[in-house]
Amino acid sequence: MPEGKTGALPVPAHIAIIMDGNGRWAKRRGLPRNAGHKQGAKVFQNICDYCRKIGVKYVTAYAFSTENWKRPQNEVNAIMELLRSYLKEASKQTRKDARLLFLGDRTPLADDLQRLMENVERESANNTGITICIALNYGGRAEIVSSARELARMAAQGKLDPDSIDESLFESYLYTGGIPDPDLLIRPSGELRLSNFLLWQLAYTEFVFQDVLWPDFTTAHLDQAIDQYTKRNRRFGGI
Ligand code: IPE
Ligand code: IPE
Ligand code: MG
Repeated sequence: MPEGKTGALPVPAHIAIIMDGNGRWAKRRGLPRNAGHKQGAKVFQNICDYCRKIGVKYVTAYAFSTENWKRPQNEVNAIMELLRSYLKEASKQTRKDARLLFLGDRTPLADDLQRLMENVERESANNTGITICIALNYGGRAEIVSSARELARMAAQGKLDPDSIDESLFESYLYTGGIPDPDLLIRPSGELRLSNFLLWQLAYTEFVFQDVLWPDFTTAHLDQAIDQYTKRNRRFGGI
């Protein structure tokens, strides 16, 4: 236990997850990569239910990055199709008092998907059990650029004094405006990198990397990650 540690931290209020390893999971079973995405989507539902049960207030999951468009068209299509069925069944989540939010640039997505996303967000806006943020066509750098662009536009129009730009104003123009920073980041699949996820928001987040592929991820893995987290000593630059 690090020096200065006085007691266990509470369950993290906000958990961010990089849902990685779907392709490798499928390959090991001799299945098409899309089968891994399908299983990964089921795991996502299960983990969200569990988070709500144990009192986590926010889950932010990386579902599709701005770089994932580089993948073969058939894989991109399959992921979008999974999103479509998730959205059509989203009431399963929202009925459990979950608020759903989408982070990222929606404009390149199909019109019907954009409409479904807006509907789900609107219908679940007042739910308070848990907030589930799905990062979709999300890139941390693109997010920071979009906040900067918006503030620059207002300044150019004379509506904003550049000297009034501070961290909290900048933050309010990110996709996550109004959402507290993650306490814990989990990346399964054995990769040790952020892959452009929440670059701003993870400044003081605790990281846990796990050697399990996302479609094999269980509530026991989550418990293990939370257990590691609760033993950490968060200092935020202090002593
Ligand atoms: C994560 O799994 C899902 C997406 C990026 C959409 P991957 O598809 O990246 O799986 P691996 O990393 O290739 O195993
Ligand atoms: C990050 O995983 C994106 C998602 C999980 C949605 P990637 O599989 O795209 O990341 P890299 O390419 O291994 O860094
Ligand atoms: Mg991957």
